[in-house]
Amino acid sequence: MKPVVYVTRKIPEVGIKLLKECCEVRYRDEVPPPSREELLEAVKDVDAIYCTLNEKMDKELIDKAEKLRVIGTMSVGFDHIDLEYATSKGIYVVHTPGVLTETVADHTWALMMAAARRVVEADNMIRKGEWTVPWAPTMLLGHDIYGKVLGVIGLGRIGYAVAKRAKGFNMKILYYDVYRREDAEKELGIEYASIERILKEADFVTVHVPLTPKTRGLIGEKELKIMKKTAVLVNTARGPVIDQKALTKALQEGWIAAAGLDVFEKEPIDPDDPLLKLKNVVVTPHIASASHDTRNKMAEMAAEGIIKVLRGEKPDNLCNPEVINVRPLEKVKMI
Ligand code: GLV
Repeated sequence: MKPVVYVTRKIPEVGIKLLKECCEVRYRDEVPPPSREELLEAVKDVDAIYCTLNEKMDKELIDKAEKLRVIGTMSVGFDHIDLEYATSKGIYVVHTPGVLTETVADHTWALMMAAARRVVEADNMIRKGEWTVPWAPTMLLGHDIYGKVLGVIGLGRIGYAVAKRAKGFNMKILYYDVYRREDAEKELGIEYASIERILKEADFVTVHVPLTPKTRGLIGEKELKIMKKTAVLVNTARGPVIDQKALTKALQEGWIAAAGLDVFEKEPIDPDDPLLKLKNVVVTPHIASASHDTRNKMAEMAAEGIIKVLRGEKPDNLCNPEVINVRPLEKVKMI
């Protein structure tokens, strides 16, 4: 009998094709995520769940899924999964690191540049027929990027890729990470600094930390008040890393100049949210990894991880390596 994989949402076809080669695929071919009730019902008798970052894989769900052996998430982040509980139950969790790094770094830069140079505001002005005088010496002035100071908070793969791009802009780069990265310091000529120093000195601050109890609210009122009035803050990591209310206030009252955000405390963000009334914020709907190539690679990678576990082979991108001690892998022949 083929193992059963429940796929929670519409994903690029390559992922489904791969799963179908050796599994019975229960494909919920829809763009919106399932309701909680639908999800709890659907996982009851499956061997694997292929999910996205929108479906909470918590204790309640894991308890419902009595046959579950593996959760594959088509995301690099796994803050939606109760990893500790999954591990205690012998459930393998795989994700999709690496393949989205450069695409997310590109998007981080797109937001940074759009926010600094007021690209969206300018575009709106033209479309609304408000471009009424030709080239004007004081129209839509923004902030320079070239030669300025970039602060990278979180120097994992994505933070590194963002910093690497900044070399082309001749920027001085400060970074903070829980681990000091002397290799990266040598390679990129970057400097290790405290978060406080970064906030004080950087013209651009970009966050690239995973969401954990420690990083929730990492940038709040106190931190925003330390930043330069001319600074631009960018977030392509997770919304709750920045206190959104405090950020709104900071942008309204001019504590900082602008922000570029791909992620929010609640997604989708309410269109009436006061943040969206501000001109000095550029927003995108959590699409930092959304290129054709990268989403195909992510879809494939999550499927490969699931299949490996079901076959009893060690997957490459295991979030909880300790699980092997709880439920050792046993080779299974799958067609
Ligand atoms: C997207 O946010 C991801 O974690 O892949």
